Amino acid sequence: MCGITGYIGKKIATDILVDGLKRLEYRGYDSCGVAGISPKSELYLKRVSGRVDALDALIAKDPLKKGVVGIGHTRWATHGVPSEDNAHPHTDCNKQVVIVHNGIIENYLDLKGRLLKTGHKFKSETDTEVVVHLIEEKLKTLNVSGAAARGAILEPVFFEAVRRAIAELQGSFAMAVLWAKCPNMLLAARQHSPLVIGLGDGENFIASDVSAFLKYTKKAVFMNDGEIAAVKADSVSYFNFQGKKLDHSPVTIQWDSTMAEKGGYKHFMLKEIHEQPESVENTLRGRLLPLNGDILQQEINLPSELIKNIKGVQIIACGTAYHAGLVGRYVFENFGLPTSVDFASEFSDRAKIVNKDILVIAVSQSGETADTLYAVREAKASGGKVLAITNTLGSTLTREADFVLYTHCGPEIGVASTKAFIGQMAAMYVLAIHFAVIRKNIFEADARKYVDEFLKIPRLIEDTLAGEGAISKVAECFAQSEHFLFIARHINFPIALEGALKIKEISYVHAEGYAAGEMKHGPIAIIYKGMPVLAIATTSKMLSLVANNIEEAKARGAEVIAIVDEDSRKIIKASKYIVVPKTLEILSPLLTVIPLQLFAYFVALSKKCDIDKPRNLAKSVTVR
Ligand code: F6R
Repeated sequence: MCGITGYIGKKIATDILVDGLKRLEYRGYDSCGVAGISPKSELYLKRVSGRVDALDALIAKDPLKKGVVGIGHTRWATHGVPSEDNAHPHTDCNKQVVIVHNGIIENYLDLKGRLLKTGHKFKSETDTEVVVHLIEEKLKTLNVSGAAARGAILEPVFFEAVRRAIAELQGSFAMAVLWAKCPNMLLAARQHSPLVIGLGDGENFIASDVSAFLKYTKKAVFMNDGEIAAVKADSVSYFNFQGKKLDHSPVTIQWDSTMAEKGGYKHFMLKEIHEQPESVENTLRGRLLPLNGDILQQEINLPSELIKNIKGVQIIACGTAYHAGLVGRYVFENFGLPTSVDFASEFSDRAKIVNKDILVIAVSQSGETADTLYAVREAKASGGKVLAITNTLGSTLTREADFVLYTHCGPEIGVASTKAFIGQMAAMYVLAIHFAVIRKNIFEADARKYVDEFLKIPRLIEDTLAGEGAISKVAECFAQSEHFLFIARHINFPIALEGALKIKEISYVHAEGYAAGEMKHGPIAIIYKGMPVLAIATTSKMLSLVANNIEEAKARGAEVIAIVDEDSRKIIKASKYIVVPKTLEILSPLLTVIPLQLFAYFVALSKKCDIDKPRNLAKSVTVR
């Protein structure tokens, strides 16, 4: 994880770097820092343990030198506790070379041992610091002082030192490096961690994600693994790790910077919950009709023959995206296609079951989740074709998958995923309906009925959101509870899991999602008098069984909060009701998840938790 920024141009670098770090804080926020080179070629640096606002305040009190080149970092600790010493940027012994890094250097202990023997002094516990000392070592072997004395241009020397250092690294990294003796060039390198170059007019940017520089430019080049970029104010050159020059054409990003701002909402999470009608609409737009699958073929190049011939689907994902995968399983199987779902981190040993008869669907908002990317590589190695469902253009997943279906949800900044989840579910429905038609598992007329109902969903989400006030009152009643249970059956079971995950993430309380029918096989023992049990009890063929499970919970003292529609409201007896509009049972997760997201939000708000940046978490988990 961690967020990286870099700038070279004509403006004061620190301002741009700090602004970019604020936008990347979702990637990690336990410590941060910036460094730059002054017009007199002096290296300067400021770091804090804590958030970017603290860094900003410190710089306001004690301004940095006004360089036009610099690098910045916001950290999510892996090696070394969150502290100022462990915060990036890190420097070499002579404070001439400075680095920011995202990822894990797996062989850092070996390298550190070697560097200690040659006299290097370490100031932090991080794996990153070995890289900057290694570059220093390479500069020595390239005889920099000799080169400088001869007046040789130092850029090729700097490039070569970084290239040679990188050749010795194992693990994952995205990094930006500066050398005080070479202030007109920033070097950036990528291996298994995201890095993107923003191309401006007389200025260029480096970042973990485009949101850091969208304010200044929408032209971007997504670096590939195994590449180094030499970034100057008026040019960027790309090389592979062997030093061979490469060509890259920029892409234009459609998102604008205001999409990544709060727009009057107190938190990004609330804003993103409210953006869900649009997320579904944008993910469906132009994709449902005609039903013969032409759209899928044209947009994602997924051949009809492949869809006809597969014997099953294997979904891999993590966290909330995994829950979208579980919903996907019900949807695909409803239309006759056997489907398995695995946590990407648990998939390794099962990868061998994949073959050309199984379509692997990897779901990831960021497209950078390390567990998901590794699972994709394993699936491909077993001969599987991989379809990615992702929200992020240019992400690693889009480049490794065979086919890509984008969810068009816009940037998701709140660490707890909401609108990306609904987009992922919507994408599953789009695929499942098309697959069913192409495989002739459904008559077109029947598929049309699903599509007609599906197209109403964005408006029904709006209606559900209109109940926000009532949901906040229910949440306030239970905000001090230390345990929450979420129960549901069938296609809403993953929504119970998601409801529990949301409240755990942002309120730090214990919550469990359980299959309602399984409660009696053990977990019912945890119910105590007054325990809040949120039960999804919308109209379904399982409703009478859910009603029984609610009675069982009530009989043991639970306070049941039932998520119902107007018909099931007449059947279910609960302490509190949250009413959602009625839709087809198969589409109901797209509505039932909304009150659970809002419930989690309002519980966290009552508890005064840091909703957009919950403790211990990061938005994009790029370590395994
Ligand atoms: C939960 C959450 C995480 C992510 C998970 C996968 O609110 O955000 O559980 O869903 O880390 O992330 P992506 O979808 O980026 O692969």
